[in-house]
Amino acid sequence: MSGRAATIGPVSTEDTDFEAARERHEHLAAEITEHRRRYYVEDAPTISDARFDELMQELAGLETRHPELKSADSPTEQVGTFSEVFTPVQHLEKMLSLQDVFDREEVQTWAERVSEEAADARYLCELKIDGLAVDLVYEDGRLVRAATRGDGVTGEDVSANVATIAAVPRRLEAADGFEVPELLEVRGEVYFPTADFARLNESQVAAGKAPFANPRNAAAGSLRQKDPAKSAERPLAFIAHGLGALRGFRPESQSHSYEALETWGLPTSPYWRVVDTMDEVFDYIDEFGRQRHELVHQIDGVVVKLDDMASQRRLGATSRTPRWAVAYKFPPEEVNTGLVDIKVSIGRTGRATPYAVLEPVRVAGSEVEFATLHNPDQVEAKGVKIGDTVVVRKAGDVIPEIVAPVAAARDGSERDFVMPDTCPECGSALAPAAEGEVDLRCPNSRSCPAQLRERLFYLSGRSCFDVDRMGYIACSALVQPLEPPEPVLRDEAGVFDLTMEELLPIKVVVRDPDTGLPKPDQKTGEDKVVSYFATKEGDPKKNAVEMLDNLEKAKAQPLWRVINALSIRHVGPVAAQALAEHFGDLDRLIEAEEAELADIDGVGPTIAAGVREWFAVDWHREIVERWRRAGVRMRDEVPEGAERIEKTLDGASVVITGAIPDHTRESAAAAVKARGGKVTSSVSKKTGAVVAGDKPGSKYDKAVDLGVRVVDGADFERFLVEGLSEGDGTAPD
Ligand code: IVH
Repeated sequence: MSGRAATIGPVSTEDTDFEAARERHEHLAAEITEHRRRYYVEDAPTISDARFDELMQELAGLETRHPELKSADSPTEQVGTFSEVFTPVQHLEKMLSLQDVFDREEVQTWAERVSEEAADARYLCELKIDGLAVDLVYEDGRLVRAATRGDGVTGEDVSANVATIAAVPRRLEAADGFEVPELLEVRGEVYFPTADFARLNESQVAAGKAPFANPRNAAAGSLRQKDPAKSAERPLAFIAHGLGALRGFRPESQSHSYEALETWGLPTSPYWRVVDTMDEVFDYIDEFGRQRHELVHQIDGVVVKLDDMASQRRLGATSRTPRWAVAYKFPPEEVNTGLVDIKVSIGRTGRATPYAVLEPVRVAGSEVEFATLHNPDQVEAKGVKIGDTVVVRKAGDVIPEIVAPVAAARDGSERDFVMPDTCPECGSALAPAAEGEVDLRCPNSRSCPAQLRERLFYLSGRSCFDVDRMGYIACSALVQPLEPPEPVLRDEAGVFDLTMEELLPIKVVVRDPDTGLPKPDQKTGEDKVVSYFATKEGDPKKNAVEMLDNLEKAKAQPLWRVINALSIRHVGPVAAQALAEHFGDLDRLIEAEEAELADIDGVGPTIAAGVREWFAVDWHREIVERWRRAGVRMRDEVPEGAERIEKTLDGASVVITGAIPDHTRESAAAAVKARGGKVTSSVSKKTGAVVAGDKPGSKYDKAVDLGVRVVDGADFERFLVEGLSEGDGTAPD
């Protein structure tokens, strides 16, 4: 709308726009103030940090467009808040907050702005620790007071509680040429170590108390205990990251001050780094973006500061934040959402796993609707109830999980989850797999639709018969149709005898391949029902024709794939290959003694026992017989003396780092070598792939830096079968 048009009518559009903005501003300001109170005073926020940041950004946006809305008491002008439980104390120097930015361009813009005042700036990069800011005052080296940040001017006196934190020295020690100053006001973060967080919440729940939503709240709640003895029971830690008032100490740079603090006994972060260029700043952001879950404390971003103190002084601060520093916040990996229900899913081996059904929410770049709860003990230990608002976390490719309930958001309508005692899909009584095990299993392994569906899906997968068009919906359709009432398959024996006539009438409920649970239509919330194999006119769909065709072709797959497709407990693709190579014939495997099996390289006693137990079951042997009759390959036809394992990694060098599921370091290396690969210890551009298991070391970083292919430990077996892809082993310069 042009300004001229606005002057004509009695109520201009600009006026209405402004009125709407004013109302929204008022509403947002009140909402943010309330969330601040919950966060800082109650230590029990009800929205995620990411959502809070969004509200703040919206408020700041309104104030940029309509500067007249800004006032001294706007949340954008304030630094935190404080409660009245502890004695108020004035900080010697104001405790500022940080300007948050959410993308790289904004970091670059900040750098360009500061470069006008400070040419050739050096940047100190460090981590934005997700904890609780405290202010410590040392006089002649003696800790005289500790306070929370409060509103930045006035904080709360938490001296008695801070004194219980082992990392905070009561006295500073002079050393290495750094005299202890007359006055030192030092700022830092009190945090709750991530490793201890789950345990704390378990004990909170066990004691009938509300769990904390995240380690930051745990730190705040622990530090602000009225009884310091209670604080002392919590493993709180501290890292210094700034200075306030000083007498007798004039550091030239932030890094210089950190060195001094260290020598006096005040812990600084082991991760800070001074760099010369913005490229290096972005490298730092990338490096810690990848490592953010491997650190002892939670971080929510990276703080970039000008290292030189004279430049810091020249640039100064706004009422709220210094101009010489900026906080780059990582994309959120934690969000809050509603826990609609807890259902139980049944896996390939019959294991019953509670699953959270969530109000769909976007987190870390993908839509999340389910989160695993592992087992009933976990549900209890986490203290989650159906109807709760929960914190959901999805870190990278990891399966989404519930961190904790937001107990402060409860209204009394939430109910406890009760583990069912029967299988949700076939009604059999669930039982512990073995004595003393927490996991419950459905014992109906033959015909439980869930177990059979999972086995069929596995059997059709890339490490077994590799049957294109036989995906999760097709497998569900064969074992658990909505119509007709009887399933086409009662076990996998008949899979190679399927006919088009059997497929055409089937209608099926669409299920989520990760959880096995029905995946409702996003719009209606109802189960989605499809006729997977037939067109509306009742003719075969292309996928049905192709599936039957592909099943026919799959009969010629090599023996190891057939063995793998049997879903024998403990037998994955690698053991299946070892067995196929040793026996070359399924009948010889069926007859083999347990001792002979256990002696095979790459097999061992557990797998040997699994094999023997499997073939001892009548209906299992019936599967083999039906497949044989249908024409499935039962022996490998190989020339005398030829090797049976495919050399999928011929000549490739492979580096293994971290723990690989179901493997020792030796067995993983042996599996690579058996496929013609070399196992090397250092990563170079010539490395074909780095297999990174749990807790990978610096080799992982090197691989990422060099652009070498990284194979997730969980995909190791598939990697062995599929080998290298084009371009692997030739990382670009
Ligand atoms: S410097 C004047 N460095 O983030 C500069 N703060 O959002 C003020 N924080 O109140 C702080 N890690 O509690 C700084 N490495 C770090 C930090 C850090 C966490 C906290 C601090 C501050 C808040 C601002």
